[in-house]
Amino acid sequence: MPIIASNFKTNHTRKSTNDFISSINEYLKSNDIKSEVYVFPTATSLNDFDTVKNLTVGTQNAYYTEKGSFTGEIGTQQLDEFGIKTILIGHSERRHILGESQEEIAKKYEFYKALGYTIIYCIGEPLEVKESGLENTLEYIYEQFVGIDTNYENLILAYEPVWAIGTGVTATNDDIKNVHTAIKEKIDKPLLYGGSVKVNNVREICEIPNVDGALIGTASWIKEDFIQIIDNTK
Ligand code: G3P
Repeated sequence: MPIIASNFKTNHTRKSTNDFISSINEYLKSNDIKSEVYVFPTATSLNDFDTVKNLTVGTQNAYYTEKGSFTGEIGTQQLDEFGIKTILIGHSERRHILGESQEEIAKKYEFYKALGYTIIYCIGEPLEVKESGLENTLEYIYEQFVGIDTNYENLILAYEPVWAIGTGVTATNDDIKNVHTAIKEKIDKPLLYGGSVKVNNVREICEIPNVDGALIGTASWIKEDFIQIIDNTK
């Protein structure tokens, strides 16, 4: 059964997030869907979602601290209030737009690993690396594991080619198969694909060898579409 995750990024309100999560939870419950489903709302929409038992709510980001003086950040004091124990780390938008270094990412990873969080750790190459060939692509990706203990039991990986994120351009099946197979040969952990996954391609992508599910942005932000995506992969 594939892992299916929705990354809201900077979208939705508290109200629409509550409606989305309760609708997905109800769909999973009433259809006895066994897929492992995650939803990552914005920090302002985190809640205890105490009636949500059929999916996991995680945080898109947090600093490596319980609390303190880190303006604009949240830490485990805020996450614990809502029972959040799942986090995205290393997303390409945090690397390339928000400037998070591999060193910072590794510190964050180590902190949340020590607390037993489920971590979806994101890797992926920019277009110019992709265009230089598979060998360079893999070398770039492996550098994104510097300082990362990949033996961690609660680790899920997500390969998200930067050039496919939010562009509508999905990697080809061969692109996905080649990178996933190479990563899996080194790191035997669940490995999701992310990058323009949609209702009409998710089934095919999840059937590619060494693809264990999908981390989805744009196509997952409308609850009916996300339900269709889950239904297409159950
Ligand atoms: O984290 C998932 C995201 O980066 C993929 O975005 O819009 O291409 O599905 P999108």
